[in-house]
Amino acid sequence: MVDYRSLQAELRALAREKNAIIIAHNYQRPEVQDAADFTGDSLELSRTAAGTGAGIILFCGVHFMAETAHILSPGKKVLIAEERAGCPMAEMITAEDVRTLKAAHPGALVVAYVNTSAAVKAETDICCTSANAATVVANIPADREVIFIPDRNLALYVEKKTGRRLIKWEGFCPTHEYITAADILRTSEEHPGAVVLAHPECLPEVQDMADSLESTSGMIRYASASPAREFIIATEMGLNHRLQKENPGKHFYSPTKKAICPNMKMTTLPKAIQTLREERYEIRLPEEVRIKALAAVEAMVRYT
Ligand code: 13P
Ligand code: SF4
Repeated sequence: MVDYRSLQAELRALAREKNAIIIAHNYQRPEVQDAADFTGDSLELSRTAAGTGAGIILFCGVHFMAETAHILSPGKKVLIAEERAGCPMAEMITAEDVRTLKAAHPGALVVAYVNTSAAVKAETDICCTSANAATVVANIPADREVIFIPDRNLALYVEKKTGRRLIKWEGFCPTHEYITAADILRTSEEHPGAVVLAHPECLPEVQDMADSLESTSGMIRYASASPAREFIIATEMGLNHRLQKENPGKHFYSPTKKAICPNMKMTTLPKAIQTLREERYEIRLPEEVRIKALAAVEAMVRYT
């Protein structure tokens, strides 16, 4: 096994020297998560980025997450550790697509999953994450139509949870759609009695097999509070690192080895060090886009 300690120490020392905070998503490589000041789900990362006093935010995650940090903290320098790390789901819808949807449904409110570009957020009324999507929709007056973009699976989950009908978009996360009902069945047979936790980005038939549907940090809270010892974790495999670290006596199983997000894995310690040392890959947005996107992100923060 590679010993990452000296690279982690180098990154930490550089962050101290530059008054930078290192923020990592729960799907990042274990060695990157362990070097971060804060690791969390999309909602927690937005809140941490908004609340930090640090001058630089080094974001270890994918593009839309770093953009959200910049939207919330324009006075800080937000760097994305690996600039090639995008989110395929976020790329499935454009600002033009949203304008077309709005023209077809005048009067509808647009709710966008944070897994969208800033340009899409700028066309949106309220953002949401997997942790608060149902709450956001439940708080919209019943007589308003709701356009929900871009994740079709999260939209179905919200429909079930709120009883509302949504105007959906056919976006999806390729990583979560790799997890099949047959994978859950097989893993459950291998580990009878294991609790099944699934992310709402999973296919509807996988959602239906879950004991609970949770955001990544929701799974962490569920697993630590639960008396169960075994869990099947239907989400990107990077989450198992924190689950195992924070619950050493419990066991966590992935239903398939395919549940890996290649974009999340692009960030490595040497890359993060280089980005911070050279202060490159700074996220910048046209101010009019940032201001409009901010209104949608702030609307979300009010709902949580
Ligand atoms: P959360 O960590 O907010 O549950 O998001 C999962 C995800 O797919 C982020 O890209
Ligand atoms: Fe996007 Fe899915 Fe990767 Fe999350 S796991 S960044 S939704 S492709």
